[in-house]
Amino acid sequence: MAKNYKIAVIAGDGIGPEVTSSAIEVLKKEADKYGFGLTFDERLFGGASIDAYGAPLTEETLEACKNSDAVLLGAVGGPKWDAVDPSIRPEKGLLNIRKGLGLYSNLRPALMFKELAEASPLKTQGEIDILIVRELTGGIYFGERGRKDSDEVLPDGTPKGVVAYDVEAYSVGEITRILRQGFTYAQGRNKKLTVVDKANVLESSRMWREITESLKPEYPDVAVDYLYVDNASMQLIARPASFDVIVTNNIFGDILSDEAGQITGSIGMLPSASLGAPGTPGMYEPVHGSAPDIAGTGKANPMATILSAAMLLRWSLGENEAADDIENAVKKVLADGFRTVDIAGNGEGVTVCTTAEITQKILERI
Ligand code: IPM
Ligand code: MG
Repeated sequence: MAKNYKIAVIAGDGIGPEVTSSAIEVLKKEADKYGFGLTFDERLFGGASIDAYGAPLTEETLEACKNSDAVLLGAVGGPKWDAVDPSIRPEKGLLNIRKGLGLYSNLRPALMFKELAEASPLKTQGEIDILIVRELTGGIYFGERGRKDSDEVLPDGTPKGVVAYDVEAYSVGEITRILRQGFTYAQGRNKKLTVVDKANVLESSRMWREITESLKPEYPDVAVDYLYVDNASMQLIARPASFDVIVTNNIFGDILSDEAGQITGSIGMLPSASLGAPGTPGMYEPVHGSAPDIAGTGKANPMATILSAAMLLRWSLGENEAADDIENAVKKVLADGFRTVDIAGNGEGVTVCTTAEITQKILERI
């Protein structure tokens, strides 16, 4: 009997619904081609869920995601919800779903497509193919936070007043499991692992280094180096082609993955995967945000979400041929000169397409 998979779809806000519906069309075509079944369970999430239910992530949506084989996410947030209480902001929904599904490992490849090399601000630097492995359910994003009054006075006589704090705390367990992910991905790639931290200042970073040293003997084929995050942000620009796998904490991974994405010149092309324990549903989403300014204009580039769907097929469903097929179709579309406006450069020598048109071009190549 043909396999049948359940995909929870949480399209979210802004361009989220447009790009996820493109990805669903592509997934359906692959399911027909390779003979497996897909059931899509579409749920509200983020701002759309705040509007409907007063919360960015409802229990029902989380349950639907837990009961799926994989989750496809568009994007969340937008100016409409900037003023809502922090406890129910769309971003809070994102953090809650990551925590709720135990998605501690966030894979963000920064890959420069050769057809789009001109778009990279660093096009002279050679081939860029970096995998950022970001710890996703710990650290300062989930640490103790709050505000408290202080009677203390600063040395220059200024009263402190209210103190706001966010704590960066990491356990040995959390660090060990994400470092193991980093080592393992490096083994499957070019065998170079860069651990990014701030060990010259932060105690938690010192522990990341100690644990890395203790794991190293188990991965003798992997060359490890360490960079302080400030230096890493420079080196990514100075020598992007020399990086292979970067493993880092939640906040540094958030920042560096945006930088790495921009270096490739085409953030509209970058997919991501968030994974937890084996056998539990992974979540797949484009690296870009909800881009509310272009929502509904047909300018959104659906390829990051379509490539996220390819990651979903590969990592959660094991449908590797279908995953390869999507990636090849996207490459062909680029090679045939079709572009969405964000990657069209000055428009010379390429055909600029809307979201629906480029989706059609991809479907034709499946
Ligand atoms: C990301 C985003 C989120 C994060 C925000 C929206 C909470 O920037 O996925 O990188 O910081 O993790
Ligand atoms: Mg981010």
